[in-house]
Amino acid sequence: MKLLLPRWFAHRGGGSLAPENTLSGIRLAARLGYRAVEFDVMLSADGTPFLIHDETLTRTTNGQGRVCDTPDRILLTLDAGQGEPLPTLAQAAALCRELGLLANVEIKPATGFERQTAEIVARQCAELWQGAEIPPLISSFSMTALAIARDLAPAMPRGLLFDRVPADWRQRMSDLQGVTLHCNAAHVADEVVLEANAHGIPVLCYTVNRPAQAEMLLASGVSAFFTDRLDLFVETSAYKALQLGG
Ligand code: G3P
Ligand code: MG
Repeated sequence: MKLLLPRWFAHRGGGSLAPENTLSGIRLAARLGYRAVEFDVMLSADGTPFLIHDETLTRTTNGQGRVCDTPDRILLTLDAGQGEPLPTLAQAAALCRELGLLANVEIKPATGFERQTAEIVARQCAELWQGAEIPPLISSFSMTALAIARDLAPAMPRGLLFDRVPADWRQRMSDLQGVTLHCNAAHVADEVVLEANAHGIPVLCYTVNRPAQAEMLLASGVSAFFTDRLDLFVETSAYKALQLGG
């Protein structure tokens, strides 16, 4: 499946302008002209994939405890900010398809749930985006999760996600049949970007919240960015030009 890569991804759904990992964030990103959103997916105690970043509920919701210990009936009642519910992957997929957004589904397994999370998320991605014009880009810091996604949803493109890119990244890319390299903008090395570009592998950097940093990374050959500052980038001419080129 061919991957069309927009230049800008709204990080955690709607960046810092909306509660993170919510449907209102995704809607906001689309309204502001973003064509791609990244969100984090973790399993509930019932094995349902929900959009949430942390292993615990405290920071982003009015709940308490671990997401993986909490059943759906509780998660579905929580407030993820400004009265927004915690969305399921199924709800987010339907919205992204409706809005024509590329979804970067980051598999975010709770500790000890790597295999189970990847199996369920990969299977659901294949079902939820079946026949879709824009398939999701599945990424994870967990190489185990990506291997499972490769085996269970081979048609869905995969991105390898690192804080610091390891020396053997190309071997891993080849093993996991990845198509994109995602890494921390604070640590990305020019040599890695050059090597990736030489092999036709787009580099995506998180989290880029300053236009000057985006310009610098772009000049070094980085292809796309995850940003929390949706408002800031839509104000700049660089955004408009880059978005058109994306
Ligand atoms: O997928 C890119 C980025 O979201 C990874 O970091 O912690 O925000 O999920 P984090
Ligand atoms: Mg993420």
